[in-house]
Order: sequence, then structure tokens, then C-alpha cells
Amino acid sequence: MRDLAPVLLDWYDRHARDLPWRVSPAARARGQQPDPYRVWLSEIMLQQTTVAAVRDYFLRFTTLWPTVKALAAADDAQVMSEWAGLGYYARARNLLACARAVAAAGGFPATRAELQKLPGIGPYTSAAISAIAYDQPETVVDGNVERVVARLFAVETPLPAAKPELVALADTLTPTGRPGDFAQAMMDLGATICAPRKPACAICPLVKDCASRAAGIAAELPRRSPK
Ligand code: ADE
Repeated sequence: MRDLAPVLLDWYDRHARDLPWRVSPAARARGQQPDPYRVWLSEIMLQQTTVAAVRDYFLRFTTLWPTVKALAAADDAQVMSEWAGLGYYARARNLLACARAVAAAGGFPATRAELQKLPGIGPYTSAAISAIAYDQPETVVDGNVERVVARLFAVETPLPAAKPELVALADTLTPTGRPGDFAQAMMDLGATICAPRKPACAICPLVKDCASRAAGIAAELPRRSPK
């Protein structure tokens, strides 16, 4: 298979979604760095909630508490009430505990191992923060990326058993240059083109490389074990 990262990054440069926690590829190319606080906050909010639902909460939180220091000093009850509607309240409690630990340490760590020691940050979120905020070559695999990879490589093993295989395949795609943009490009491709039921293969930048498209089974993947 040809090296897909340059193809996907070129697509991302033209089609990246405009999201309030994101530094656009153009701004990033001019040297603007993402704020780790904003990346972390967005990833915690996005753990079990859609981009559309998170957008307004993210803007409200960053208006009330523009830095991790500000959030660390926040009133617990106010944070819980601003969180209302996002659900999974353990996330809000961990959010405050994490903000306080980070503020006490003087900032966010950059590595996955250090990030995972913080409350509310597991394997997925540590990879996402390390890649997006610090441009480390970490492979970020959420549900969107699982679908893209399953289709690209025509993985017919059903989820959840397929997960390790999908992570290993995703890992082969991660570039050393621009890994943060690459991670977000995979998410955007999954969210906007490689959609669950009706993939828009006609406008996909990877259509020529897609094994499931060639086999005529793209819309059927990923398969899932019956519950
Ligand atoms: N889902 C989880 N993290 C995301 C991100 N950084 N951008 C878009 N969707 C996401």
C-alpha cells in the first residue's frame, strides 16, 4: 500500500472541520501551538458525547475558566452545574481532580505514560492529548478511526474482538511528521466521509486504497458480534 499519511494530510489541509478546540492546519503551519488545557478539556468532554453536543459546553467552560489554573480554583458545585446535560458525572469529578493536580504540577505532562497517571485519562485520551497537543507520534483510535481502518484493510473480524488488530493496523499508518494533524484527519474522515451507514466513497481521498471498497463491502464494516 502507498504511504497514506501525505494523502490524508493533504485532504485535511483542505477539509478540516472548524472546531473550537482545534488549531487549524493553516494556523499550525504558521507555528501556532494547541493549548494542552483546551485539548484535554475537549477530549474529556468528547469521551462519551458527540462533537455537536460538546461544542457549546466547551465554549462555556473556556469562557468561565480560560486556563487550567482557573478551573482548578473553581467552585465544585458550579462546575457540576455547568456540566449538567453532558452526563457521566464521574467525568466532571475527575475533571476537577485532574485540573487541580495539573495546576499544582505547573502544567500538563506531554507523554502518554505521565498523562495516564492523571484522573480521568486512560489509554485513548492520553494518546489523543499527546498527539494533538504535543505532536507526538501516537496512534489515536476512537470509534471513527476503527471504522476507517476496518474498511481500509477490509478487516472482517467483528468488534470488539477486532480492536487489537485495528489498533495495530492503525499504528502502521501513523506518520512521524504532523502526527497530531494526522490523528484529527482520521477522526474527520470517519465523521464526515467514512460514515457508519452510507460512506461517501465517491469523494473519499483514500478510495483507491480501500480494500473493502474494492470488495464491495465498505458499508457492512466494521462487523459487530451480536450482544
Ligand atoms: N472526537 C474525539 N476527539 C476528537 C477531536 N479532537 N476532534 C474531533 N472529534 C473528536
